[in-house]
This record gives sequence, structure tokens and C-alpha cells, in this order.
Amino acid sequence: MERGRIKIDLSNYLSTESGVNFRNHQDRAFSIVSSLYKSKTDQMQMTGWLNLPHEEGMYADIKNFLSKIQSEEKYEHLLVLGIGGSSLGAQALIESLNSPLWNRLSKGKRKGFLTVDFIDNLDPVIIRTILSRLKLDQTLFVVISKAGTTVETIVPMLIAREWTGENFYKQCVFITSKNKGVLYEVAQKHSVPIFPIPENVGGRYSVFSPVGLLPAALCGLNLDEIRAGLLDADRLCQTNDLKINTAVTIALSAFFSYSAGKNIFVLMPYSTCLRRFVDWFVQLWAESIGKSKKGSTPTVAIGATDQHSQLQMFNEGPNDKLITFIKVNKHKRDLTIPDYTSENPSFRSYANFKTGQILNIELDATKRALTENGRPNLTLVLPELDEYYLAQLMYVFEVATAVCGNLLEVNPFDQPGVELAKRYIKEALNK
Ligand code: PA5
Repeated sequence: MERGRIKIDLSNYLSTESGVNFRNHQDRAFSIVSSLYKSKTDQMQMTGWLNLPHEEGMYADIKNFLSKIQSEEKYEHLLVLGIGGSSLGAQALIESLNSPLWNRLSKGKRKGFLTVDFIDNLDPVIIRTILSRLKLDQTLFVVISKAGTTVETIVPMLIAREWTGENFYKQCVFITSKNKGVLYEVAQKHSVPIFPIPENVGGRYSVFSPVGLLPAALCGLNLDEIRAGLLDADRLCQTNDLKINTAVTIALSAFFSYSAGKNIFVLMPYSTCLRRFVDWFVQLWAESIGKSKKGSTPTVAIGATDQHSQLQMFNEGPNDKLITFIKVNKHKRDLTIPDYTSENPSFRSYANFKTGQILNIELDATKRALTENGRPNLTLVLPELDEYYLAQLMYVFEVATAVCGNLLEVNPFDQPGVELAKRYIKEALNK
């Protein structure tokens, strides 16, 4: 039974964006969804991600691996090596739900689950600092690369191999393509366990494969709740009713706004915990939509922080943006603000509010100001920020991205602009 769903509030959008007419395009959008779903088990189409919520065996394998790691009681830390689609999904899940401050919690507060670090770049300062701060003999290394050859992943792995010593590969698990790539060959040679990435799932759509789910499980996230959210989203995304189908509504809004000259797509959650989620979205949207000289540029903003930074530009700069807010109705572990009116009368305005409540009041005020200024904005509303709703949100954005790409007549599943640079790097290294 459906538990609840993410809702979309279009009222400010419809009053500010010109020429919006969903009716003329909704049938096309629904038929795009239907074609995407029809192809999800076709190995030649890159829509295998739509099938992931139904992969019971994959969930069982991840849970078995987690039980094995827990019963060994050997590891304290998790180090994830990967880049782009092979890192951002796991970062988004873990930081959004465990907070960016997870590693600062005591083992007890973490319920014994592992601390986590991600190396997703070749910055030597970061690689050196992370490796030198971890107890390497108590670190589980999860190396993720679909191609199995990516320089930003292989290079830190070689450094970690050197720093850890002979036992390194015994402490590894690889998430990669089956039967191809350097990681696969190394795994064969050193008996490293492999979780496969299905061929028909692209990197930026792979968060709900082992790429995102294995690190998430090792950090204590509830896979059953994630899956429940995905299965409900999977059903809602196939509904031919805009009131329910948030993914298609986002796609149509983005398509209309882009057609009306809004070249920038701002995603602005009012929660610092969702910062990595926005980074994940930026990659998904940029790599999927930015082709053939088309596409709105995705931009990160965090409320309320960016009210004191980018909001000036959003409100009075060029009217070239669609701003999508994310509101969390009920913030976790909310704090009641004490009443210190006796110390200064101005403190009365805060007394007895909760901090999350004020955050949402600020969001509503910002929306009002933007709307009065004719700035298109829409709001996605999450009842809470938990596994169930975050999984829904991410799945909805995946479908919205694929639909918007198709509406714009670009292929949302390739990335020729990225591949070219990868080829030039290889050329330069092999001189
Ligand atoms: O979405 C994508 O395809 C890319 O961002 C890849 O995930 C990224 O380039 C990493 O590739 P790989 O997993 O092959 O190492």
C-alpha cells in the first residue's frame, strides 16, 4: 500500500512562467515514459535503471555481504574510490540521511556502522589526508568503476594499495562491469569479490544498483525502506495523471521554462543535509540534457544559506532561471528555540519556534518574494527526509531527466562530450 508521496506545488510557477500549456505536451511526455519502461529489460537500451527496484536478488546479495562484514567485526571505516556516477549517488544517500557529520558521531551513535570517506578526485592533499587519518588495517575499500579503467579511481587505488600493503586486496570489494576492464582482471587475480554493474545502467543512473546501495548499507541505511520508496515511485511515475506523476510534471516545467528562455535550472533544498543530493542531481541533469547546444544549466543552491548569497541574483538578476525548491515538512531531531526574552526583547520572535520550522518559514518568504518579482519557482514537498522519501525523490528526478531529454530530442543516456576528454587524457598519459 502506498504510504505517501512527494508532492509538487506549481502555484507560483503557473503565475510566473509565460505560455505554460501542459495539456499540449503531456500526451507526448506520457508516451515517452511508456517507451522508456517498455525498453527496461532490453540489454541494448540504457534504461536498465528502471528495472533496479525489482531486482530482489541484488538486494539479497548486498544484505548478505553486509552480514558477512558485520560478523567479521574487522572494519571501522569505509573508503569509497570512484568518480561521477560511481560516487555521487552513494554520497547523496549517505550524507542526506546520515548527515554530512556522520564521521563525527561516536561508534555507539553510528550503531556500529562504518565511518565513510569518498575519494573522487586526484587532489593529492585530499588523498594523503584521508589515507593518513584512517586506520588502514581496519578499512574496507569499495572501488567503483563501470569501465574499470577510470584514472581518477585507479590512481587512488594504487596509492591505497601502497599505503595498506600486502593485505590490500583482501580488504577490497569492487563494483564494476562483469568480464571486462582492469578492475575485473585485478579481481580475478586477487580474488576480490565483485558486485556487477548491469551493462544497460549508465553511471549517473546507477545509484540504486550496488554502486549506491552497497556503501549505503555499510553505513546503516535501511535498504528495505529505500526499495519501498522506489517501488512506489516506480508505480507513480507510470501514472498518466499529472496530479500524481511528479516526474512528468518536473520534466514538462523544465521543458517549458527552457523553451521560454530559462537557461538555468536551480535546485534549492532548504536543508544542508541535501547538499550532496543536489551535486548528484547536477551531474545527472548536466550529462543527460546538455547536448546539441540545448539544455538548462543545473545550479546548486542551499536554503537558507544562499538567501545570503545567490538570492540577490535570483531575485533581481536576469530572469533566466527556473528555481525548484525542496521543502522538508518535518525536520528530523528538530530543536526548540529557548525563550530568552528576559535577556533581550528581540529574542521573543524566535521563542518556542523550532529551527526547522523557521527554515520553512524562510522558504515560504523567499518563494513569495521571488513570485512577486515574476521569477518562476516550484516546490517539491517531502513529508520527511528518510530513506523512503529520498529514494522516491531521486527516482523521480531520474525519470524527469530522461523525459525532459526526450522532450528536447537529445539522448539522455550518452555523454559524448565527456568521452572525448577521457580519450585525450589517455593519449596524454600514454605518450
Ligand atoms: O555518468 C557517467 O557515465 C559518468 O559520470 C561515470 O559515472 C564516470 O565517468 C565514472 O565512470 P566509471 O564508472 O566508468 O569509472
